[in-house]
Amino acid sequence: MSKALDGVRILDFTHVQSGPTCTQLLAWLGADCIKVERPGVGDITRGQLRDVPNADSLYFTMLNHNKRSITLDAKNPKGKEVLEALVKSCDVLVENFGPGVLDRMGLTWEHIQQLNPRMIYASVKGFGPGPYEDCKVYENVAQCTGGAASTTGFRDGPPVVTGAQIGDSGTGLHLALGIVAALYQRNATGRGQRVLAAMQDGVLNLCRVKLRDQQRLAHGPLKEYSQYGEGVAFGKATPRAGNDSGGGQPGWILKCKGWENDPDAYIYFITQAPVWAEICKVIGQEDWITHPDYATPDARLPRLKGIFARIEQWTTTKTKFEAMDILNKFDIPCGPILSMKEILEEKSLRETGTIVEVDHPKRGKYFSVGLPIKLSDSPAEVKRSPLLGEHNDEILRDVLKFDAKKVEEIKASGALGGSKSMAAE
Ligand code: COA
Repeated sequence: MSKALDGVRILDFTHVQSGPTCTQLLAWLGADCIKVERPGVGDITRGQLRDVPNADSLYFTMLNHNKRSITLDAKNPKGKEVLEALVKSCDVLVENFGPGVLDRMGLTWEHIQQLNPRMIYASVKGFGPGPYEDCKVYENVAQCTGGAASTTGFRDGPPVVTGAQIGDSGTGLHLALGIVAALYQRNATGRGQRVLAAMQDGVLNLCRVKLRDQQRLAHGPLKEYSQYGEGVAFGKATPRAGNDSGGGQPGWILKCKGWENDPDAYIYFITQAPVWAEICKVIGQEDWITHPDYATPDARLPRLKGIFARIEQWTTTKTKFEAMDILNKFDIPCGPILSMKEILEEKSLRETGTIVEVDHPKRGKYFSVGLPIKLSDSPAEVKRSPLLGEHNDEILRDVLKFDAKKVEEIKASGALGGSKSMAAE
């Protein structure tokens, strides 16, 4: 079956997480993704957080499926020649180096346009133009500067970063959208363009509702925040809201049966207004259906703490899955807190390809997250990540159409590193 991005070739000059997330998505959508890596070491994540000796780490393998790998010393003259040949034969160059790195390699935007006017040049950077544009940035820096950390955690505690990699993977996702849009526009203009996704901007985009609340503060307290019900005054900025729901329907995380011994025996419970009567019936508090202190959403707002404490008396009598089954029958929105172990064991996620098992020649079988977007005409097939330099020969020969003499010349120059075997073994 054909793939959505068949015929698109990506020069993948990415490393660590943000850029590789983007190119992996494009590869799953059918693009031919050629990852350029530094000879000998490759993407630094190949060796980071290793769990199996001498095998690429899960950090690397889970972010680089469906790609080909070529090792190339971009500072060696022959390496530069290969790099420029790749620029000419690819549609998109994706990179997430520190600011100025590609310019220092001689690959300025102007030069890229001369080599290939159709080239889309896409970058992840920590910040957009401005005072911090020269800074190097990692995930948690972006979470802090994009507004996520100041609005995450509990009111009486310090800012907290979230486990979801919204700075890296989130920005990679934004960049992928920019690239697909630029490819679409190129159909009409024939021209490439620059695409920039700054991590601060990406995180802020995902924290949009918190910027909404910042502006609402000027017009009074944020009544859906539990601090309102607790009588705690608001400060000048959007506060941390613990497990409050970010929307108009109050929610909280409640203990379930077994919570004393299981750190994940909890459920997220939303007191959705249209099913208030059902909630009251389920927990055995029918008098709240008509009681003036509880009957309307506005009346409930200052009493949320007590309401959730009462609901928790009920949830602690059920396991999180029992509670989910019962509540869903009444359309009461809720979600059990699933551990990574439970997610890995969830049959339905395997069936949809959201969790996939992949075989790797060095590390054996492992699990990964597949493409979370399902296209009916472009199903994703998850293939293992490449070994370092595994496709050196095939890229020089089949993609760049270099003859045997030229290939030998490039190898002899050391541009690909010591030897192919060093790379791929
Ligand atoms: N051949 C020769 N040199 C190569 C090379 C190759 N194939 N690949 C990389 N290099 C060199 C670069 O030329 C650069 O050297 P230079 O600074 O002397 O010019 C160096 O390797 C890489 O630099 P940099 O990207 O700055 O790496 P770093 O490890 O110092 O910083 C980050 C890592 C992630 C902080 C930085 O890349 C960054 O801020 N990226 C943008 C934001 C981002 O994506 N952050 C999240 C990452 S998940």
